Amino acid sequence: MKTPVFNSEEAMAQLRRSTHPGSAHFYAMYSSLFGGIITDPALMVLPLDDHMVHRGHGVFDTATLVNGMLYQLDQHLERFLRSAKMARISLPFPAERLRQIILDTAAASGRRDGSVRYWLSAGPGGFGLSSAECVGSSFYVMVFRQEGYPESFYTRGVKVITSTVPIKPPFFARVKSTNYLPNVLVLLEAKERGADNGIFIDDRGMVAESSNMNVAFVSRDRVFRHPQFGAVLSGVTVQRMLRLAEGLVKEGALTKIEIGDITVAEGKAAAEMMLVGSSIKVAPVVEWDHQPIGDGKPGPIARKFLDLWHEDIRRATDQLVRVAYPE
Ligand SMILES: Cc1ncc(COP(=O)(O)O)c(C=O)c1O
Repeated sequence: MKTPVFNSEEAMAQLRRSTHPGSAHFYAMYSSLFGGIITDPALMVLPLDDHMVHRGHGVFDTATLVNGMLYQLDQHLERFLRSAKMARISLPFPAERLRQIILDTAAASGRRDGSVRYWLSAGPGGFGLSSAECVGSSFYVMVFRQEGYPESFYTRGVKVITSTVPIKPPFFARVKSTNYLPNVLVLLEAKERGADNGIFIDDRGMVAESSNMNVAFVSRDRVFRHPQFGAVLSGVTVQRMLRLAEGLVKEGALTKIEIGDITVAEGKAAAEMMLVGSSIKVAPVVEWDHQPIGDGKPGPIARKFLDLWHEDIRRATDQLVRVAYPE
């Protein structure tokens, strides 16, 4: 069969035809290349010569839209700006303007719940390696239906395996770049081996993180434990949970909070283990490498953290930014 060559009009029609059912849940997109917001999923495309596409020279972050508010937007933005600096991508606009564009895109989506993801790219300019050829950095925002996890993750718990996928070196684990190949592979490996997700182990044999979430433990003497942040992504959610854990220490549910190295053996001997992140919130892990964690049932502390998360999105005014929807 001969490969068709399209003129611009035909190409546009093809673009419209090429949307898939999932794109019905892509609600709004901002592109600095258009200089505005669009809501037609068929047009939510990037130029191939954008260095984020063909070189992975881009960074991103995601904030959750809940009840018409962006949860922890400023904390996510702070990490986004840190990532941009590490990736040596300059901002196309001042940070305050980026924040406003995110809020405007959320408003234009008309949605009160979803995910708001934004990217900063070295930008288009050609197919070379150096961003010196780029015409300027580009900024994109997308509002889409949040990835859902099965209810059983919370009621029956999550099963994990130790991943054989090599973890990113510390610098690359700390920058939230668009190079998520190891993160994708850890998840695919876990599914293939009958688990829900995998755990990255660092080159010293210490517990690191999961595919796109952090991992925390409650020891048998009720210490809340998290790995050091030097070689993992500093999760906005787990940083908040570490703060809220102070309340659980005060009420006696936990004895203390410890951030430091956790060996695999220590992790497996914990009373509780949990996955923490913007998408999963807090989910109990009940099995690791086919061995039960604690009594093999979702634990009370993971439950308490999930309840605290729900309370936070309802009441923590210092963690919520209201979206100004059109009347
Ligand atoms: C590799 C990795 N670790 C941890 C996290 C959790 O971070 P957050 O709580 O900010 O979603 C994420 C998600 O962004 C991630 O991609």
